[in-house]
Formats: sequence, structure tokens, C-alpha cells
Amino acid sequence: MSIPTPIDNPLSDRVPSAPQSEAPAGLPDVATLARLANEFFSSIPGSATPAAASVGSGAGQSVSAALPFTAPVTSVASNPAPPGSPLAGPGGTGTGVPGATLPQGHVPGANLVPSSPLHVLSLGNRVPALAPHAIAHDTVPDSAQAVLPALEPRFGSAALGTEPVQVERPSAPGAFTSGYYFLNEGSQPAHVHRETLSPGQGVSPESFGLPGDDFLRSLSEERRGTAAQGGSDRTGAYYFAEDERNHASYARSAHPPFDINAIRRDFPILQERVNGRQLVWFDNAATTQKPQAVIDRLAYFYAHENSNIHRAAHAIAGRATDAYEGARETVRRFLNASSTEEIIFVRGTTEGINLVAKSWGAKNVGEGDEIIVSHLEHHANIVPWQQLVAEKGATLRVIPVDDSGQVKLDEYQRMLNGRTKIVSVTQVSNALGTVVPVQEIVAMAHRAGARALVDGAQSVSHMRVDVQSVDADFFVFSGHKIFGPTGIGAVYGKREVLEDMPPWEGGGNMIQDVTFERTVFQGPPSRFEAGTGNIADAVGLGAALDYVMRIGIENIGRYEHDLLAYATHLLRPVPGVRLIGTADDKASVLSFVLKGYQPEEVGRALNEEGIAVRSGHHCAQPILRRFGVEATVRPSLAFYNTCDEVDRFISVVRRLAGRR
Ligand code: ALA
Repeated sequence: MSIPTPIDNPLSDRVPSAPQSEAPAGLPDVATLARLANEFFSSIPGSATPAAASVGSGAGQSVSAALPFTAPVTSVASNPAPPGSPLAGPGGTGTGVPGATLPQGHVPGANLVPSSPLHVLSLGNRVPALAPHAIAHDTVPDSAQAVLPALEPRFGSAALGTEPVQVERPSAPGAFTSGYYFLNEGSQPAHVHRETLSPGQGVSPESFGLPGDDFLRSLSEERRGTAAQGGSDRTGAYYFAEDERNHASYARSAHPPFDINAIRRDFPILQERVNGRQLVWFDNAATTQKPQAVIDRLAYFYAHENSNIHRAAHAIAGRATDAYEGARETVRRFLNASSTEEIIFVRGTTEGINLVAKSWGAKNVGEGDEIIVSHLEHHANIVPWQQLVAEKGATLRVIPVDDSGQVKLDEYQRMLNGRTKIVSVTQVSNALGTVVPVQEIVAMAHRAGARALVDGAQSVSHMRVDVQSVDADFFVFSGHKIFGPTGIGAVYGKREVLEDMPPWEGGGNMIQDVTFERTVFQGPPSRFEAGTGNIADAVGLGAALDYVMRIGIENIGRYEHDLLAYATHLLRPVPGVRLIGTADDKASVLSFVLKGYQPEEVGRALNEEGIAVRSGHHCAQPILRRFGVEATVRPSLAFYNTCDEVDRFISVVRRLAGRR
């Protein structure tokens, strides 16, 4: 069996030094770019400073209409773009920071809310500092086009399709021309050279650190053996290791795999040494590591954009607002929500579920009503509902799971009735890794007249989520589980559902008008964002999602499935190992117990070898007890992990198993 062993290159040279003032290689200097941009912006007809928007009224009002800008803004908007010009175009990240995907016709700094005075505020002040790479081509005059290189995504390399394609290969790792690598993104990164490959030429799964033909064939043979012995899929085989057909379709995929070594260079912490060994981060279900893009974005925000948002009529507030609202747009795009008004920033999944329980639940759940969760749930998707039913005299019902850890849809169907108000389920179990068929569960809830919430904390980093296809009324996730900062997450809610929900916290930012007698609230999402939010980390989350989207979530999911198959294949036969969670459809997580050891003893032994896993109950005690255990050892994989790392992990478990 041929097991690929990706090589991890040192990264020390990837960590950016202080930002440099020079433009990246191949670009004109910043002053020239600023001049060109200013010439262009000044040449737009009707570029006079627009009047400030008036403050609207009414509870359902959007943020944009209610921005309290009444002061003249000429002092901070020297070259404003007129409403309706391409520069005032709708949508887009508008952060002014490289790495963000800009819609056609949008310029960083342009506010996301059409005709908003903030747009004017920020644009005029952002021009001189405009990052060259981030200038959208169709907004730049011909003279400038001539000197601007094509905008290229930093990732999106390899070739396994049917057409010859261009691939990016690392040739001189770390040779960035700017301290902030993202300032180079408009140009070809210095460490990448391009070459044209015919289909399949020079590229194999092994070259990306993936299991190859031999490995998949051996898994396929094992599966056939299991079937021949009357084995059931539920106890043994994993769909993603199915047979050669999987591999063939993988090789034909329109989403080529990525270069694992390049990916690993993006995550500086992976070069840390723990107990003398290079860190293996197998605790991704607890939190994920952060790419340099996110680390740099946070630093950039605090160095250049830090301000409170929405309130102050000054340039830096405009930058911060653009960055924050740009991140909201990125979340919208990532989830395929239909509007940014459906995206609420919260601290994370726990706060998101609490928001729904305490706002929607308080209004819509009454005595005798029922709420359904599954046996797989994290405490965060149990406790808020428990509190709600206790307060209201309602009942919490639990969808059971089978012995593989998959929910029993037939029993769920029997639970649904006219009293069911909401069904709240995880998309991926944090303790077992089970991928739950949420689309079906949501559809069944809707047929019964109930609302549905999907907890995406453990799914978003492993699979594409399209909230319009899933059709859940709420979808909740945490930034730190998807390579973003801690303390930030989002609630997606269908617009009509959010509009009918009361605020759950009161304070600044969420109000339209306040007297001592009454308060008029903003519409969503502001109605649910009282006080100063986690602005910088929201911006960091946007950078993380941009990063994931550049690599392609399908690429990530496919790679991880193969890695999980590989790890499962090696772990299962170790004497004394019992896997907890063997559903056909799993993501990332490999929970187990080892005979003769407490889970924390296994965790400590792994830590001694530099391997980080979580040992414990994983904030999901009910599902572990369903399997007769109080704790497990839980390695959980991400797309920067490798077969080499799995080998290191397996050798420790084997050594422990051999001692008892
Ligand atoms: N929910 C996180 C976990 O599963 C903390 O580890």
C-alpha cells in the first residue's frame, strides 16, 4: 500500500515582517496608484458630496436608512463617489483590504449600503491608501489598467480536469515582496510560477498528500470483504472509501485538490514544537488554527481601521464600518443567504442558539408546546431549549440515534405533531462526527408546521452550506471553528422570521429612537446586535471565509474524507480500540476509547509526542452516555493535517495498546 507522506516545509520565512511602504514587484508605487485612482475618481461626473441621509423611522427599518449622519461630511470626503456610480455599487466586501473578493464595479472603501453617506465618508479617505491589488479592473481608467496586473486568486491551483489548465507550484517559498503578503495579491505572488499542464500531467492524488490508488483499492477490498461476510455498512465501511469509482470521480472533479504543503505554510502555528516534536493539531473540533491571512487581517484592522462603527462622522469610523459590513457580506456569500439583513453577528454558536431561544422562543413557544433536538446535540443546543421549556411549561423531545450514531428519521417522523414548534439539530456531531441529514430533517419539520434551526458549528469547515437549499429558518456557526477568531460567529435567519422577532438584548446600536417612555428598535440585523460588537474579529472572520472560499470547500471536504478514511482504517484494528461513532457519513472526528486507559491518559501520552487531541465529554454528555462512556479520546482533523501526522498518532496508540 502506498501511503503518501507529505513533507512539511519550514515556514519561518512566511511570517511577515513589518509592512513595507514599497509597492509589490510588478506594480507601480503607491503614490502613482493613488494619483491614478484619484484622477479617475475625480473625473466621475456629479461627484459632489451628497447630502446626509435622513434618519428614518419605524421598527422594521434597515440599518442603512437609519444611520444618524446629519453633519456635513466634506471635511472627510475629498473625492466622494456619487450614488449610482459604479463606485457606489451594491454589495461586496468593501473592506479595502486585499484578499477580499470584490464584486464587479466595487471599490474597497465603498460602503455596502447604496447611497449611504458612509460610502462617501470612507471612499474619499481610502483612496490614498488603496491597496493596489484591490482595485477592481472595471473601475480603473485605461491608463491605470495598463499598469495593473490581472487579479488572480492566491489559490486555485492544480489540474485534474479534462482541459489543460494552469497550476501554481511553489518555487521559492516565502519570497514575498511585502510584509503584508496580501498587498501582493494583485500580482503574481513571488513564490509561485505558472506552468500549463495537460489533464493529469504531473499531478496525482499522492502529490497533494492524498491517499492514492493503492490505498483506495485496499479500502475497497476491505469493504468487499466486509460485505461478503455479511457485514453492514453501518458498522464498518465509510462511504467515502467506497471503491475505485470514487477515486475515478475524484480524479475527474471540477474542483482540483490543493497543495498541502502550501496550505500548511499558511498556518504558522503548525511549525510550533511541543515536547520537542512538531505540533500535530488534531483538536480541530474544539477550535481550528488561523492562517496568516486572518492574523494579518486583524493586525491590519487595528493598525489602520480601528474605530467604533456606524456612529461617528469621521474617516476611521467609515473604514471600520466598511470592514465590518464587508465581513457581513462575506458571511452572506459564504452561506448563500439572500441578504445581509439575514446575517447577525454573535459571539459564536452558543450565543446564537441562545438568541433564537430567548427571542423567537420567548414569543412563539407556550405551555404544552414541544421542541425537538437530537441525541447528538452539544450542550449548547440542549441547555437553552431546556431553560425555555422550563419557563414556558413546554416539553423537550429527543430524536434517538442508532448504534452507529445516526439519527433515526422514522422515530423523528413519529415525534412531529401540531404542538412541535421548532426542531433544532446539529449538522455534524462534535462528539462522534456523524453528518446528520439536516435537509430532510428541516423539510419534515416544515411539513409539520414547525420552524427549524441547524447548528453548523462543526459542519461549516468541512462541507458546503447553502442556507437556501437547506431551507432552515436559522443556521448558526462559530468563526473559530472555521479558521477565524474566537468570540465571533453568526446567526442566519430567514428575513421574515427575524422581522417578527423581538430583541433579546437592549442597548445602543439596536435602537431607532429612545425616550424614557418607549424605544423604537432597528430592523434586523441591528435589532439583535446591541452594544459595540466584536468588530475586529468579525473582520477576521470575513478573512477566514475568504480564505476557505479561495481554496474551495469541496476540495477541503474531499481531502478530509480521504484522511479520515485513512485514519479510521489504521485505528480500528488496534487491539483494545473501540470507535465511538461509526455512521456511514462522518466528518473530521474520530472518537474512541482504549481498553485499559482513561481517555485523559491517552491524551497525555499523545501530548508528550506533540499531538493535541481533546479527551473528555466534549460538551456532549448525553450522546457519550448513549454509548456507555463518560469520555472519549477525540482526534479531529482539518485540511492542513496529513497522513504523516496520522501515522505519528497511530504509532502512539499502538504503543499504548501494546503495553496493556
Ligand atoms: N464545542 C467544542 C468541542 O467540541 C468546544 O470541543
